Amino acid sequence: MSQSSDITHDVLVVGAGLAGTWAAMIASQAGVTDVAILSKLHPLRSHSGAAQGGIAAALNNVRPINPNEKRGDLEPIPPGDDPIDSWELHMKDTIKGSAWLGDQNAIKIMVQDAIDIVYTYEHMGCVFSRTPDGRINQRRFGGHSVPRANFAADWTGHVLLHTVYEQACKQGVKFYSEWYALDLIVEDNVCKGLVAIDITTGELHLMRAKAVMFGTGGYGRAWRITSNATANTGDGVALAYNAGVPLMDMEFVQFHPTGLYRHGILMSEACRGEGGYLVNNSGDRFMEDYAPDRMELAPRDIVSRSEQTEIDEGRGVEADGQGIHLDMRHLGHERILERLPQVREIALKFAGVDIIDHPAPIQPTAHYSMGGIPADVNGQVIRDADGTPVTGFYAAGECACISVHGANRLGTNSLLGASVFGRRAGYAIAEFIQGGAQLQPIQGNPLERNRQRIARFKSDPANGKTESWAAVARELKDTMTTNVGIFRNETRLRKALDDIKRLQEHFGQVRVMDKSARFNTDILGALETKHLLTFSEVIAASALARTESRGAHSRTDHDAPDNGNWLKHTLAHPNDDDGPTLSYKAVDIDWDNHPPEVRKY
Ligand code: FUM
Repeated sequence: MSQSSDITHDVLVVGAGLAGTWAAMIASQAGVTDVAILSKLHPLRSHSGAAQGGIAAALNNVRPINPNEKRGDLEPIPPGDDPIDSWELHMKDTIKGSAWLGDQNAIKIMVQDAIDIVYTYEHMGCVFSRTPDGRINQRRFGGHSVPRANFAADWTGHVLLHTVYEQACKQGVKFYSEWYALDLIVEDNVCKGLVAIDITTGELHLMRAKAVMFGTGGYGRAWRITSNATANTGDGVALAYNAGVPLMDMEFVQFHPTGLYRHGILMSEACRGEGGYLVNNSGDRFMEDYAPDRMELAPRDIVSRSEQTEIDEGRGVEADGQGIHLDMRHLGHERILERLPQVREIALKFAGVDIIDHPAPIQPTAHYSMGGIPADVNGQVIRDADGTPVTGFYAAGECACISVHGANRLGTNSLLGASVFGRRAGYAIAEFIQGGAQLQPIQGNPLERNRQRIARFKSDPANGKTESWAAVARELKDTMTTNVGIFRNETRLRKALDDIKRLQEHFGQVRVMDKSARFNTDILGALETKHLLTFSEVIAASALARTESRGAHSRTDHDAPDNGNWLKHTLAHPNDDDGPTLSYKAVDIDWDNHPPEVRKY
């Protein structure tokens, strides 16, 4: 095919969150001159900016005033005093949080790099909150045994994203803002580029690159209640899967315990880190019954399950009994305004509740995907249990499964993982390019194929019957919420798979009302809905096969971990016939130092 109007770059990153922007910035700093980022949003609207409470690193800046207190006030550790934290302890907490499904070689790298990456942010000018003596301030977070969430009030993701975006601009990285990737081109196991639509004009472009990196984020929009922005439709994982790349551990989806009731918007875990309580309709702090040691600061899978149990057993709040109260009144006006200003504003604007005077109604909300595109510790995408690389294809951040979070991520390890592995991917990509990588000729005609795909949405169907993508998406969210939520079982998962199959058939009849070219959000909605259907089937199929409970995957019909049979990663391979084909991959475990234990908090 003619390549005359192609856009070409050495490196093309998709997604302008922390992982993608770090990778682009580092590749550029390392000497690659032609680096571009494509983002469906303005880069600063990327979802990394929505993470509120902190980025984990064992800086040893603060400690509890009373060492026996799991809650209560913190004080700076005087220089020269014994440290209370270490990367080893951070590693231990992360492994236990992951329910032993996290790869321990990757976790070790993440927690060791954590300290340097936080200081690198500081040196780039990031506006962290400070201790009275001027060091980066830290707070408690769930599943971490000591305070190690480095924070900027409750705007941490926002300030990190701004910091790294400025650096990428300074480096001369080119941004394609409001461009949307439609199709990833992988031929003979080599990634050659992609097809993208410029949302502002509606024009399609073939974009070829020597290396493509995905930092495309997560996919909470497959559920009715989610903390994820409307853009989080799992485009990257679906594109990779459609291009023949398997998806790993997709059954592990995190429900954050504190989404604003009925809206799902994140009410940061920092609320509990600062000392907030969870109470049921009798005013009881029910976490006493589920995790008496850590209480509200148990890991998210445990707190969300506890809340859901309270709700299911009739102890919820609000008219429909589907809420729980998050009570922060005892923190006081001053502390709330200093530490939790965004949370306060969200509760005020969306629920009409001032958290200074009233408990906030919350409920569990689909928040984070532990699974994704399988990649090694350098972000190199792999296609099987032997680690065979997909040449020229890299991934990091939430769309990737490296796998540092295993079956359940600890809060604040997400900003960390995206930063650490985005940076490492940047170095690996630079090495790949500088080692002589070339643009590769493309065999088929992907541009035409995608033009036809878009045209079909605008055409009249042969049988005159149309479906709306919004209705398909609504039904999908209903079945994912009811059947692939916090508690699962075989009957529910089979029902979800049947529903998804039926919706995939309906999708063949989807047509759009808006036939125009510029900013056609109707077309985008249709494309995104197709992505939701694609990866939702993988989640349900992987969850049905995993007959155990581990971390965020909780099956009422198999209610305990089964290390004998299931201490392994799922790889879901695309299969033209009937849903994914599943295979499995060993977990990297240091059996001498971190063997699986009973997970109690
Ligand atoms: O609760 C929060 O502030 C979210 C942080 C995270 O998901 O790491």
